[in-house]
Amino acid sequence: MTELRIAVLGVGMMGAFHAAALSSRIRGARVTVVNDFFPEKAAEVAASVGARAVADPFEAIRAEDVDAVLIATPGRAHDEQVNACLDRGIPVLCEKPLTTDIASSYAIVQKEARLGRPLIQVGFMRRFDAEYVALKKLITDGALGNPLVVHCTHRNPTVPDFFNSEFMIRDSVVHEVDVARFLLDEEITSVQVLKGVATKAAPAGTSDPMIVVFETESGRIVTDEIYVRTGVAYEVRTEVVGESGSATIGLDQNLVVKTTDGRWGGSLTPGFVQRFGAAYDVELQRWVDAARRGTVDGPGAWDGYAAVAVCEAGVEAVRTGQKVRVAMEARP
Ligand SMILES: NC(=O)c1ccc[n+]([C@@H]2O[C@H](COP(=O)([O-])OP(=O)(O)OC[C@H]3O[C@@H](n4cnc5c(N)ncnc54)[C@H](O)[C@@H]3O)[C@@H](O)[C@H]2O)c1
Repeated sequence: MTELRIAVLGVGMMGAFHAAALSSRIRGARVTVVNDFFPEKAAEVAASVGARAVADPFEAIRAEDVDAVLIATPGRAHDEQVNACLDRGIPVLCEKPLTTDIASSYAIVQKEARLGRPLIQVGFMRRFDAEYVALKKLITDGALGNPLVVHCTHRNPTVPDFFNSEFMIRDSVVHEVDVARFLLDEEITSVQVLKGVATKAAPAGTSDPMIVVFETESGRIVTDEIYVRTGVAYEVRTEVVGESGSATIGLDQNLVVKTTDGRWGGSLTPGFVQRFGAAYDVELQRWVDAARRGTVDGPGAWDGYAAVAVCEAGVEAVRTGQKVRVAMEARP
């Protein structure tokens, strides 16, 4: 295959971002088809990347000039669209979440297993971030000794009002769920959510911040402070505490401390594009390279399913205030 010809479904914030990257910075790929619920959005992005716009997402998936599909539609559309990619037997990069419920995610895991080759990658881009990769290497090299505890912090400066406590689990904490599974190489078995005093910036009924506590199969503890209305900056930090040392990432990339006007200091990262922009590019390049070889090189359907299962337990923990066990089927 010379160039991987890609259909991009859903060209809102993420889809338009990925389409632009695929048609500029990523090697060996070309966006040929663009689809969106709003035809004018599809037409605009298609024109900007030299592709054609198609009104029906399933027509886009089945198009002859499409070898692979990137799904950046809202989570509720993923189930049918990923299934259509599996039906055609072509590689798909699906933004998280894989689907919005455990049963449909597991059905996808089973269907892909029956096909006998991996076709699905899920958009957990932190696995491609240089700092997370370095942290994972410290763990696998044994540099920290046995990892005992992982502390995560996930703060956004501001979010829309529809980010209620449950949405914060499904949309934000989902990234720490995948980070914990990636770093520790084991499943999460329970979730507990502590709700304290909320910021006055949060709408009534929304607990912001929250402390989420995960337990893993081997009994390790992972904590995550999720606070999405700090009014400050995008702060995503992770500390792994091991038996013989600890390591922290996320203290701001390219840290520069400058002295000007009688002050010292640096600047904080404003948003996730600035923090993870490079990781998205690596994610796309690795997906394109693997898809051209007919395989997947990143978090797959099982990782997508596990994240959905843990977040489902997290939402239950928000509702009940209880520690909730994660219900997961066996890996096929
Ligand atoms: N990996 C990350 O860091 C990250 C960050 C943000 C969003 N996301 C994920 O990316 C996906 C898109 O998020 P977004 O922020 O770009 O949303 P968005 O609302 O900006 O864009 C979604 C687009 O999909 C279109 N759309 C809706 N239903 C559709 C359908 N059935 N078929 C085709 N197009 C449809 C909408 O018109 C819109 O243009 C979500 O799954 C979200 O969770 C991932």
